[in-house]
Amino acid sequence: MLLCFFYTDYVLPIESHTDNNDRLTALRPNIEEKKMEKPVVAAKQPIGVDLVAGKEYWWCACGRSATQPFCDGSHRGSGIEPLGFKAEKSGEQWLCRCKRTQTPPFCDGSHKQVKD
Ligand code: FES
Repeated sequence: MLLCFFYTDYVLPIESHTDNNDRLTALRPNIEEKKMEKPVVAAKQPIGVDLVAGKEYWWCACGRSATQPFCDGSHRGSGIEPLGFKAEKSGEQWLCRCKRTQTPPFCDGSHKQVKD
């Protein structure tokens, strides 16, 4: 019965009052996973984009944008937010589209590990 109650929209206010309860704190990671969707693989290759030094860009972290590698607002409701960054130099940069990079927004070769 108690677990069913945790999966309602009233989780956060209740949890904020139960931080000292080890049992409830242990459940929190599972609850957080339920709220955030996983990024989808937009493509298994990075894309070369001409960036302008000093200009701000919003890299899509969710993989749902139709304007890859940049955000188009499709992340709404996924629990994932785009990554804002300023280009440090002008010229072509390889931006991640598999959404598995450890160096966002730039490709680190992680797409080679993405399975079909
Ligand atoms: S559309 Fe993917 S982060 Fe905004």
